[in-house]
Amino acid sequence: MAGKIVVTGGAGYIGSHTVVALHQKGYDLVVIDNLVNSSEVMLDMIAKITGQRPAFEKLDLCDESGVRSFFTKYDDIKGVIHFAALKAVGESVEYPLRYYHNNLVSLVNLLRSMEEFGVRDLVFSSSCTVYGQPDQLPVNEQAPVKKAESPYGNTKQISEEIIEETVRSSSIRAISLRYFNPIGAHESGLIGELPLGVPNNLVPFITQTAIGKLPKLRVFGDDYNTPDGTCIRDYIDVNDLAGAHVVAIERMLREKNDAPYEVFNLGTGKGYSVMETIKTFEKVTGVNLNYEITGRRAGDIEQVWADTKYANLKLGWKAEKELDEMLKTAWRWEKNLAAGILDK
Ligand code: UD1
Repeated sequence: MAGKIVVTGGAGYIGSHTVVALHQKGYDLVVIDNLVNSSEVMLDMIAKITGQRPAFEKLDLCDESGVRSFFTKYDDIKGVIHFAALKAVGESVEYPLRYYHNNLVSLVNLLRSMEEFGVRDLVFSSSCTVYGQPDQLPVNEQAPVKKAESPYGNTKQISEEIIEETVRSSSIRAISLRYFNPIGAHESGLIGELPLGVPNNLVPFITQTAIGKLPKLRVFGDDYNTPDGTCIRDYIDVNDLAGAHVVAIERMLREKNDAPYEVFNLGTGKGYSVMETIKTFEKVTGVNLNYEITGRRAGDIEQVWADTKYANLKLGWKAEKELDEMLKTAWRWEKNLAAGILDK
């Protein structure tokens, strides 16, 4: 298909896996990233997998004239997959304005340029965080959006609203993908999550503890109303997630969308507790984890997993990977990082 796909945040965790998936489907693409939370070396790693380093523009999407220059330079853009955003919940509580400014101004600039330059199709990186603690499980796309627990979560909700209202008043079409908990890495072990500083999310915390970068994993609470008392999440493989982005952009490019704005859950439909995740990691890697049960983390949801029927039916997409495989690839990536794979 003639024309390029733009991947904003394409040097990041989900972005880099999506770049690989797009490349494997034969798409021509260009990555935009400001590299504040990622590294350009990931583009070299992508090249090792695909045989081709993606075209790259270092650009902060908050720079409106920079965004316009980008669309002037690349006049054959067909669609945009927008990952670029700040995503640390705790940091967003500490620096709300940084989050509102970065995540919202960048989106507005992108949408303005898409309108101006006649680029119609947008896939947006949203989160199951918009559901809060759902009243019913599994949670489907009709569940109400609950008041956000953090500025980060609020930027996802507001972004969805900005997109929906822009779609209503323009020729832009969009799909918001609400991810559950993305984990794992590419099976090659060449790309994966690169948390800068101390990680926030469970699986990087597990792998960094296992490798010895961190002394101990804390399990945030075992007194929840769940079978083993620890929180339950729907962990989805990052490669499965990447594949869903390809399907979503193709859905619009091929005029297969049912409405100009659509929303899909991306999960497996299965929930695992923190303890089950730890035990599965120990089983598949043979590494014993040093962990302790501590108090609850403020703002944590007790349990959430996706109703995947709508995405399965409409996108013709289904998450394939099981938890043990996801943890194996996450571990392979952590070991490769420790062996200095990015320095070679
Ligand atoms: C978190 C964010 C969510 C965001 C998502 C993105 C919070 C409160 N929520 O979701 O808004 O969309 O990441 O990936 O941060 N856990 C431990 N020990 C740890 C780390 C986590 O026990 O060191 C537990 C947590 O309590 C939780 C589970 O592991 O029960 C998963 O945690 P995490 O990976 O941070 O994801 P979420 O909390 O689901």
